[in-house]
Parts: sequence; C-alpha cells; structure tokens
Amino acid sequence: MIHPLTPLSAGEIYNAVQLLKSLPKFTSSTRIISITLIEPLKQQVLAASQQAALHRKACAVCFDNARNRAFTVELNLTKSECMAVTDAPDGSQPTMSIDEQIECEQVVLHSPMFAAALKRHYGDVNPALVMVDIWSAGNYGDAEDSHRRLARPLCFLRTDPTDNGYARPLEGIRPVVDLNAMEVIRVEEFGSWPLPPQEANYAASRVKKKRQGIKPLVIEQSEGPSFTLEGSSLSWQNWSLVVGFNAREGLTIHDVRYDDHGRLRPILYRASLTEMVVPYGDPRPTQARKNAFDVGEYGMGMCANSLRLGCDCVGYITYLDAHLCDSRGKALKIPNAICIHEEDYGILWKHTDRRIPDCPEVRRSRRLVVSSVSTVENYEYGFFWYFYQDGNIEFQIKLTGVLSLGAAHPDESLPYGSVIAPLLYAPNHQHFFNVRLHFNLDGYRNTVQQIDVLADPPGPENPFHNAFRAHATDLQSEAQAKAQLNPQSMRTWKIINPLSKNAVGQPVGYKFFPGDNAVPLAPKDAWWRKRAGFVNNHVWVTPFAVEEKFAAGDYPNQSSGGDGLERWVQKDRNIANEDIVFWYTFGHTHIPRPEDYPVMPAAYIGFLLKPNGFFDSNPANDLPAFSEGTLKQSCSHC
Ligand code: NI
Repeated sequence: MIHPLTPLSAGEIYNAVQLLKSLPKFTSSTRIISITLIEPLKQQVLAASQQAALHRKACAVCFDNARNRAFTVELNLTKSECMAVTDAPDGSQPTMSIDEQIECEQVVLHSPMFAAALKRHYGDVNPALVMVDIWSAGNYGDAEDSHRRLARPLCFLRTDPTDNGYARPLEGIRPVVDLNAMEVIRVEEFGSWPLPPQEANYAASRVKKKRQGIKPLVIEQSEGPSFTLEGSSLSWQNWSLVVGFNAREGLTIHDVRYDDHGRLRPILYRASLTEMVVPYGDPRPTQARKNAFDVGEYGMGMCANSLRLGCDCVGYITYLDAHLCDSRGKALKIPNAICIHEEDYGILWKHTDRRIPDCPEVRRSRRLVVSSVSTVENYEYGFFWYFYQDGNIEFQIKLTGVLSLGAAHPDESLPYGSVIAPLLYAPNHQHFFNVRLHFNLDGYRNTVQQIDVLADPPGPENPFHNAFRAHATDLQSEAQAKAQLNPQSMRTWKIINPLSKNAVGQPVGYKFFPGDNAVPLAPKDAWWRKRAGFVNNHVWVTPFAVEEKFAAGDYPNQSSGGDGLERWVQKDRNIANEDIVFWYTFGHTHIPRPEDYPVMPAAYIGFLLKPNGFFDSNPANDLPAFSEGTLKQSCSHC
C-alpha cells in the first residue's frame, strides 16, 4: 500500500488528464496549470487503520485562454470521476506554465514589432541570438493588469548560441506579451543603452584556465546508506518522514516523527515553501516593475532540476523522480528531482575528562539531507531539509545562479545597484521566502510561545546586576502572534504541547530559531508589496484551515493584493492549544558585488528547529564511538 501522501504517479497524472479532457468546460483553449494530490486530512492520514480506505484525489488548476478564466477541478482518481468544478474569482491568474515560457520566447523572437525595435536600438545584431526570459507582469493599477494575462519579458543578446546571454542585456526595449493571444502587443522603448562589451562565461567548456591541485575526495559508503526508502516513506536514525513534491511548492516534507525509545513521536506534520518574492529596488523605468513571485507565478516544482550524481550531490544517493504534466496534458517527468543522502557534519558532541588519560569522548554528527534545486530563469534556489541525530531539523535555501542584470551608460550614476563589469550593472533587490510549518508535536493540539530573553532590573533581588531570564508568552490569537524578529531580546518561538509533559514536568517543546533575515525596504503601499502581505511580519501563527496553503493567496500572479496571510488573520482566531500552523517569512537583502558575476557563489538562508524539552536528555548520547564501526578510520587513542 502506498502512503496516502505519496505524490501523484505518472499513471495518476495521465488518468487525471483524461478525466479533465472529458469535461465540457475543458476546451482546446484550456491549459492545465497543475495537477496536485489532494492530501487527506491529518486525522485520516494518522489513523493508520483508515489509510487503506482513503481514495486518491487530485486538484487540477486549469486556465482557459479564450475566456481569460481560471477554474479548479477536483477529481477522485480511485473512482475515476470528477467531484467538483469551481470557477476561480474574477481576474485570477494562475502560475505561468512551462509551455507559456517557451511560447512567449518564440513569439517575441518572431515579432516584427520586436525586430524593428531591436534594429532601431542595436543595429544589425543577429536576432536569432536574442534570449527572452518570461517575467511576470505584476499589477501596477493599469486596466490591462487585471483584464489580460500578461508577461513582460526581459531580453538579452548572446554572442553565440551557447554563451552567457545575461552578460548583454537589451536594456532599452521591453516587449509586452498577451499570453492569451500569445502575441506581442507592444514594445516599450525607454532610450538607448550600449551593449556591455565583455563576454563573461561560467561554463566549464569556456573557462580557459582552470584551478589545479584538487585531489580526489572520495565519499564511500560500501555498505550502502543508513536510510531506507519505501515509496516516498523515508526512515533514518530514529527519524521517519514522507517526501512529497508538487508543481507549485516543489519539495514538501510530511509526517515527521522521531522514534524515542520505542515511542514514534510526531513532530511536524507538513513543511513547505509557500511563496517567495524578489522585489528590485531600482526606480528607473526599465527596472521599476521588476519583481517575481517564484512560487505563485512560476511554480517551484515546475522549475525543478534533474539532479546529477557527483555534481549536485555526492555520496550514496537515492533519487526520486517528479511526475508532472505540461499545459496540454503531456506527461512531464523530472528524473532525479529529489536527492536523498547522508553527510558527515563534523563533531556532534565531545568531552575530555582530564582525569581519565587518553580517552576523550567524541561523536561525529551525521545528517540526512532531502533536497531539490529549481531554476527560475536566471536564478537558482536549492532547498535543503536536514535531519540531525540530536533531533534538530534545519531548512536551508542556497541562492545561486546568475544575477538579473541591466546595462549602464559610461559614467552613469547608479545608486540603486552595483556596477559589476564594464557597462553592466545589477540592481539591488531582496528575496523574501515564506515557509509553512504545520506542527503535530506529540499530538494535534499545540501552542506557540514567543520567548524573549530580558535582563532583570537592578535591585535588591539582583544586587550584582547579572540577572536575565527567558520570558515565555503563550500566544492566544492570530493578532497577538504577528511578530518581527527582535535581536535585542534574542526572540525565538517555542512550539509546545501543553498536554504532553517531559521528565521534569514541563510541556514538551521544539524551539524555532530564525536565521538571517531582513525587513522589506519598500513601504506597504508599494505595488509589489500589496500582493505580498506575508512580508509584513516575520512570524504568523494560524489555526489549521485546509484552504490556507499559500502565504500570498492562491493567485498572486497579477493580483491586486490583499490575499493570503494578511487576509486570513483578520479573523483573529484562537491559536492556543489548537491544530496550529507556524508561518515564517525570511528575507535576504542582496546588494550585488563583482564576485557575484558571472555566476553567484551560493548565499545561504534558513532556520533551525531544535528539541527543547521534547526529549528527557540528549537523544544522541547513544551514538557509538568511532571505534565501534561508524567510520572506517580507527581512533588511535581509545
Ligand atoms: Ni539575489
């Protein structure tokens, strides 16, 4: 029996497509944007006895280009029947599909209007070497933003068919494409810029002088890995979890549990990246509209890479394929979309008792890595979930790829970005991510505490002025839970189960430690920010509601804003001792530098979940020493 949260198989996607195509509403102008598993409710999934009876269901998001109208279809795949067809609210623009990306590039390349503008600005360059990146149009209050399905591509010029085209932006011309008619409706012209003169390539075949002296570093696991994978159910070192994937969110993590001396204790029911937005900070006409919602506008799963052994991941790797479909319903398989492997992670713990000669106690840390990487036009995002032997769970995003670049005039003042090569500049920008963590800490009902560490005032009880303590506030309502990071009080959050007590009689807990972060620099009425209310707070807590999945709402593409977290929490629902969802927004402020060019060394951002009174003591105290066989090298001292 497959786990009920296993992503849809290729066969299920095929069956769903056939069901969709049999619907009267599905016409030749209808695109399939995504087909995703409808996950059974937590109570059903966790009741193992019910699992066999659960039907496989899917939700398809469809878009009719002729009617400029989105609708969803709920399908029961077990019974091969359609359960419901629902029109999306007026003006809803779902994610742009892979097909639209490809078709959009072709219509620009074949547009006489674009060819004429290209010639006016850049003379007799070879139009076949133009590279067109689809960019979402956003919503800036113009009537067309609400009534047409639009893209505002950025264009570049390669010097030959495989060089890094981003080195030469076509700054002065901006085609606008109606994706319903799939035609260029106009080309906006903003003046003339020179083409940056230098090539800059990162491909191995083009880097002429390569670094020497790198000897092989071999990771050998001759007995195989320590994890087991059955279908999408993964277990490793007391951990068990289910690996999910879908077109919009990409990699998802489900039903995370830890075997605590025979008790399989639930911790986290579902974890996913719900949205991310990249607003750019340059107000000039060619740059001012640039922002991208990479989940809601592009689909992080749809943009996932096929990973390669020895490059993306090293060691004993197990891959999972992703099964999707294109907008016409044709099967789309991403082989090796998810990588599962183990990594040595340095020292986990150590102590040397100086009174006992020559026998330090030290244990290596090992972590389980579940990862995927997505390419959204110029940028790459790597998503890494780490599970550690001491109960820690870490999420890390690696930001890499190629900067979004613009051209510069000689001696032009460029306060909103950085010149990174002659006549080439990169505008300042921020990346805001939102992750949704649906907890299940020792049971359905959890509470979130905000923890602020503060000094006591001087006084008779604090004569040496050294006192400080952690103040825990039980969050009762959605309004109370909205919060910003606060380094002055080392603010963290603790998810507790008030009904489950640990060995010292306290509620069991897991603590949330934020990592690097940022605040949005644009004010709340900035056009992009109206659509990204989730950036208004770093932390939000909501009671679980099945329809609340995406922090900027279901349809952020070209939306006028106001949807998602900002709207839901207006109900100010109770969150104490509830089935709760913890939402975390984290931002990276990117002031580009020449070292980010021609390709960016990865930047890292994420967060950590640490057991905090969840276990009765260090759960990794039971790890064997080196000499007991976890590493081949013997410890000469012990
Ligand atoms: Ni960046």
